[in-house]
Amino acid sequence: MVASEAAPFAKTGGLADVVGSLPAALKALGHEVAVLVPRYATVDLKNARRVYDLLPIWLPPQRYDTSLYLIERETPFYFLDYPPLYDRPGFYGEDGEDYPDNHIRFAVLAQAALEFCRRVWRPDILHAHDWQAGLAPAYLRTIYGNDPTFLGIRSLFTIHNVGYHGLFPAAAMADIGLGGSEEFRPDGLEFFGKVCYLKGGLNYADALNTVSPTYAREIQTPEYGFGLDGVLRARSQALSGILNGVDYAEWNPETDAFIAAHYSTADLSGKRICKQDLVNEFGLPAEAMDAPLIGIVSRFTSQKGAGLVAEAADDLVAEGYYLAALGTGEPQYEELFLAMAARHPSRIAVRLGYDNALAHKIEAGADLFLMPSHYEPCGLNQIYSLKYGTVPVVRATGGLDDTIEPGTGFKFWNYSGSELVGALRAAREAFADAEGWRAIMLAGMAKDFSWSVSAAEYARLYERLGARV
Ligand code: ADP
Ligand code: GLC
Repeated sequence: MVASEAAPFAKTGGLADVVGSLPAALKALGHEVAVLVPRYATVDLKNARRVYDLLPIWLPPQRYDTSLYLIERETPFYFLDYPPLYDRPGFYGEDGEDYPDNHIRFAVLAQAALEFCRRVWRPDILHAHDWQAGLAPAYLRTIYGNDPTFLGIRSLFTIHNVGYHGLFPAAAMADIGLGGSEEFRPDGLEFFGKVCYLKGGLNYADALNTVSPTYAREIQTPEYGFGLDGVLRARSQALSGILNGVDYAEWNPETDAFIAAHYSTADLSGKRICKQDLVNEFGLPAEAMDAPLIGIVSRFTSQKGAGLVAEAADDLVAEGYYLAALGTGEPQYEELFLAMAARHPSRIAVRLGYDNALAHKIEAGADLFLMPSHYEPCGLNQIYSLKYGTVPVVRATGGLDDTIEPGTGFKFWNYSGSELVGALRAAREAFADAEGWRAIMLAGMAKDFSWSVSAAEYARLYERLGARV
């Protein structure tokens, strides 16, 4: 597998959770999996072994002398080391600006994945995730297409988010080893005059999947395709949807190391202690303890429905809710959240930033978890919430629609503030009935989204691909 993130080493979102935990689930099914990610500044090499000193990557006229580190967990994680490109504080940029050489950084990652297959570990399947790894399937079919080393290696590309294309000026083709090639065309890497790394995955991989069945359908429509719905329709035979699993070793109220008290379906009493801890942490008043408290952990972007939360904020307060939100993202949405908190200081508390421990405390301490996403390929937080007895209120899109049902959460369909408020009103009424609410919590906690089922689906896909050699 090649990707730009893998938990716990480098994470901005759910991609990292998936790449960090799917390999072990595949191993349990008898597969061997190695993961390659960049060695960013945040990756602690204390427990790493340097396993390869000189892995040269040629993107003429430049040569990048990379090397590899290995950290053994249940499965091996390899780190591509090239400090001038990756030893930086951010993964993709700093202070809201993308790094200007991202096209090089992720072309080197993609090509390193192929050199890795040649020199270190030859797989049957090259599995690339999202645009940052999109060139790997493209290189496999082009520059490496006639190289006998790669004969028989099939590729799978997983789309975690079709909204991020990895677009660069046409001139980038020359910097990534594809200058003068025929690949700059709409069924290749070209997208409206630019180079599109996502298309490297969409057009060149042998198979495609995305992270929920509903999102696999949605992205083939203009409403959700971000201009790539035509490409996806053209490849619909090769495209499937496999719901993400989650790692209950990390996200489980019975064992979670970050929360104030443990609890389970057999004994929910610890949840109130977690709520008190969360109320303290966010400086909310004592009255919040007897009112419904909503949690949000999110990237603050248009995808996540940040604008809709702002639109509904006054009604949410009028309905009697308290809100504790953690997130970071686009400045305009961060400001919206701060403005909400400023308007309702005793009811809405917002923490800007990325904080894994606090994310766990919110999952455990809140009564409800809000995800009013505009679109959601899978979404992991609502699945974690189920396990924590924190009842999800979601917009019925993508993986949110596939994982939440009446009886475990509350859904609304149209992307509108009034529908969101309607769902919150229904949840508020349900919350007033303590016994009924407890039944909803318990139904969610009993749901099992562990990787075993989804990993088996990936394994079947790999096997089908391998059989087609
Ligand atoms: P996405 O990948 O689109 O952001 P997901 O729901 O798939 O959404 O996954 C988000 C993951 O990132 C979850 O594990 C969530 O806890 C974590 N996360 C998101 N924002 C933050 C934050 N501000 N602090 C800590 N963890 C966060
Ligand atoms: C993306 C999507 C999210 C999904 C995650 C992991 O970040 O936005 O919905 O859960 O990838 O697949």
